[in-house]
Formats: sequence, structure tokens, C-alpha cells
Amino acid sequence: MLTLGIDVGSASSKAVILEDGQKIVSQRVIQAGTGSSGPQRVLDAVFGESGLSWEDFDNSVVTGYGRFSIEEVKNQVSEITCHAKGVAFLVPSVRTIIDIGGQDVKAISLDDRGFISKFFMNDKCAAGTGRFLEVMSRVLELELGAMGEIHFQSRHPAQVSSTCTVFAESEIISLLSKGTPKPDIVAGVHYSTAAKAVALANRVGLRDDVVMCGGVASNKGVIDAISKELDRKVIVAPLAQLSGALGAALIATEEVRRRDKAAAAQDHAPA
Ligand SMILES: Nc1ncnc2c1ncn2[C@@H]1O[C@H](COP(=O)(O)OP(=O)(O)OP(=O)(O)O)[C@@H](O)[C@H]1O
Ligand SMILES: [Mg+2]
Repeated sequence: MLTLGIDVGSASSKAVILEDGQKIVSQRVIQAGTGSSGPQRVLDAVFGESGLSWEDFDNSVVTGYGRFSIEEVKNQVSEITCHAKGVAFLVPSVRTIIDIGGQDVKAISLDDRGFISKFFMNDKCAAGTGRFLEVMSRVLELELGAMGEIHFQSRHPAQVSSTCTVFAESEIISLLSKGTPKPDIVAGVHYSTAAKAVALANRVGLRDDVVMCGGVASNKGVIDAISKELDRKVIVAPLAQLSGALGAALIATEEVRRRDKAAAAQDHAPA
């Protein structure tokens, strides 16, 4: 059985092709999200790599901010459900999920059976999101991908506001003009990002294992700051940025199995 999971986020588009709910046949991330060419490009990439096309799939599910933009897919599932499913598949011991994407920060708690028991999302402000980190890396004239390593050169992380992106930006400009070392500002930015995630994680009721997913999980500095603020280990999900798309493909698989089971029961029902 072949299923397709797509996650059209605000910052990136992700797709996973899954065989029998177990084997990843193809997976891809394109760093361009809803409203861009990202969704088409990610589909072209996984179709091209696998040699498959729409007719080959038994089912497909789309999630993310842009989940109503893929005409061919009728099944839309919320990001919370898809991330929970994807992360629980990758790290079965997970009980708390922190997802930091381009514009959202989400905390999800799972019960011992892997079902969602509570979740919270950030308010509309970009503070604490991937977008916040992108803005700050530009102000600091640093590559976004380099911020994670630079974090570990800091000796005295600077104080950076966690409540407002515009305010934090002017704080950083002021720190730069005072000659504060860049690694200290970078670490301050990461602690400010962590503060938002930690507040949400505490609201859902923190339990081990804590697993981080979403694109920001690739920033080791943010992981370090969250782990220090929580005073516990934070596991980075393998395929962290793809966990929503993987969850979507798993949900598509479950749906086919349910359909097949119902059809088989119908066939065996007494006339
Ligand atoms: N190589 C990288 N190094 C550091 N950060 C990265 C890297 N790649 C992506 N990111 C961060 O990941 C963010 C995007 O994450 P993700 O793909 O999970 O977002 P999304 O799902 O599109 O957004 P949302 O769920 O909020 O709609 C970017 O804003 C950026 O900050
Ligand atoms: Mg997302």
C-alpha cells in the first residue's frame, strides 16, 4: 500500500511517500511554503524520485497552514494530529512534543497510548518562532544555519525580549551598537525563543520524553536553551522537519486499513 503525506507550512513544504505504513519511499523538504511554488516543487521532487504519480496512491492526506491549497487531496487533517502521529512513530517514548515552525510554536502532550491529551499554540506574535530567528539572523548579519554553532561560543547570554519581535529587533541593534559580542546576542535570541516554547510546554503539563520537531529543531542552540530552561533532556526527532508530513502519510495508511477492514466485515456479514 502506498500513501502520500504533505505538509504545506508557512515557511516550507514537505512530502513523504510511505509504503505499508512503515517504509519511507521518498521524502523532501522545500524551503518555500504556502502561497509559493513550494507545494508543487515538493510534489514534483517526490514523484520524480519515486517514479510514482497521483494514481499510484491508495490514499493521501495534507496538513499545515496551506492544507486547503492542494486540489488533488480531499483529506485535510490538523497539524497537531499529524505532528503527534509522526513524532510518536519516530520516538514511541514521547510524552511532550514541542514543534517550532516558521510562524507557529506548538506544545502537545500525549498519553501513554500516544493519544493527544492537551495542546497549546502561540498567539499571533512571531516572537519565539522560526520567523523570529530569521529576522534576528538578518539583523546580526549571520547565516541562519550558523546560529546554532555560534550559540556555544557565548559566555554571558544577552537579555533579549521574548514578547515582541519588533522590540527584540531594536534591543539587538542597541546591543550591537554597545559592542556586545555576537555569540552572546545569538544565545540571548535562542533563550528568548526557548522562553516561548517552555511556557507552552509547561502549560500542557511537562512529561518525559520531551521531543522537539519542526524546522527550528535543526538549530542546536535553541535545543540547548530549551533543555537548560526545562532542566531536562530534549530529544530531537529524526526527520524533525518532516514529522507532520510523515504523520499525514501514517493517518492516510490507517484510513485505508479501516476502510479495508470495514469492507471485509461487510463481505462476511450474514445476508
Ligand atoms: N538549516 C536550518 N538551520 C536553522 N534553522 C532552520 C533551518 N532550516 C529551517 N530552519 C528554521 O525552520 C523554520 C521553518 O520550520 P518548518 O518547516 O517546521 O515551518 P512550517 O511548518 O513551514 O511553519 P508553520 O508550522 O509555522 O506553518 C524556518 O523559519 C527557520 O527558522
Ligand atoms: Mg509546521
